[in-house]
Amino acid sequence: MALKNNIKKYIEKKCDIDYSGKTVLITGANSGVGFAECEEFLFVGANIIMACRNTEKAEEAKKKLLAEFPDRKISILKLDLASFSSIEEFVAEVKKQKLDIDCFINNAGVFRQPNKTTAEGFELVMGTNYIGTYYLTQQILPYLEKLAHKVYLINTVSFVYKYCKLDYDNFFGEKKYGNFKIYACSKLALAKFTQYLAKKEGDSNIKVYGIHPGISMTPIATKAYKRLGKVGYWFRFMFNSTQKSALASLYVVSHDLPIGAIVGPTHFGGVRGYPKINKIHKKATIDTDKLIKFTESEISKTKKK
Ligand SMILES: NC(=O)c1ccc[n+]([C@@H]2O[C@H](COP(=O)([O-])OP(=O)(O)OC[C@H]3O[C@@H](n4cnc5c(N)ncnc54)[C@H](OP(=O)(O)O)[C@@H]3O)[C@@H](O)[C@H]2O)c1
Repeated sequence: MALKNNIKKYIEKKCDIDYSGKTVLITGANSGVGFAECEEFLFVGANIIMACRNTEKAEEAKKKLLAEFPDRKISILKLDLASFSSIEEFVAEVKKQKLDIDCFINNAGVFRQPNKTTAEGFELVMGTNYIGTYYLTQQILPYLEKLAHKVYLINTVSFVYKYCKLDYDNFFGEKKYGNFKIYACSKLALAKFTQYLAKKEGDSNIKVYGIHPGISMTPIATKAYKRLGKVGYWFRFMFNSTQKSALASLYVVSHDLPIGAIVGPTHFGGVRGYPKINKIHKKATIDTDKLIKFTESEISKTKKK
């Protein structure tokens, strides 16, 4: 769907920025929020790198984007967050092509994937949304840090990060598994990593932020909503359009926000609305070192195998 008029008007009024000549890399850019982010950044002049696991789907999405924005540069790179070797190959390709990146958006994610694991054997939801994103970020950071300009690093969390607690004895749901619980915990872990990184990068050229889309009926959310049956059906009009949900990233780069801010809808507990700065829940800021230590240890175990 082409960018709607209300979204264009909002951008012109509230996210008035010229991103011509700048490059935005978005993971999971072929669908949902990632695709809408492509449209919105293309609208303000940016070129796009789509980092996707399925290049056929990415080519289809690229065709649609070029039909809407014919004079822009859009390229595709293969990236599967559920595989460390794919992440390493992706990072090697970015370096080989010496890609200049102004904004790097960790958007890709999954929901409801019981009994599935990543190539390294991590439960798939935690393994993709957090471990994969963490590994990718740590691998790409030294390269981004060498770029001679500011780089926005934006992690996509969810407002549900507030509604769970990390349990290091059941981090991957190995003892007790719940679809919602593992998803919410993956997003809490990512929110904590975002806060850790924002602090660590301090005055460097890397500006770290979190965004959340509220709720929008993308493939990921439809999976959850189907299970809600009639209740979900009646409440579906409360949700955001995908294009409205996607505005948070553009909001970040077009405003002078405190480092580490989380931006997303705030109405109905964070479900819908235009992007605003959120109050960061304490859960995202406490014990971040503990999480990083645990994560590094889990990753290092896979290297010894
Ligand atoms: N929609 C919501 O209501 C909502 C709410 C809160 C947070 N979020 C977050 O927003 C982000 C975008 O989700 P969405 O709603 O736009 O869902 P979506 O339309 O299902 O998009 C998810 C994207 O992630 C990609 N992806 C999944 N696994 C991957 C992997 N292993 N490697 C690389 N890419 C992978 C998907 O690729 P394929 O097309 O190949 O599957 C797709 O491009 C996610 O992080 C999600 O958790 C969404």
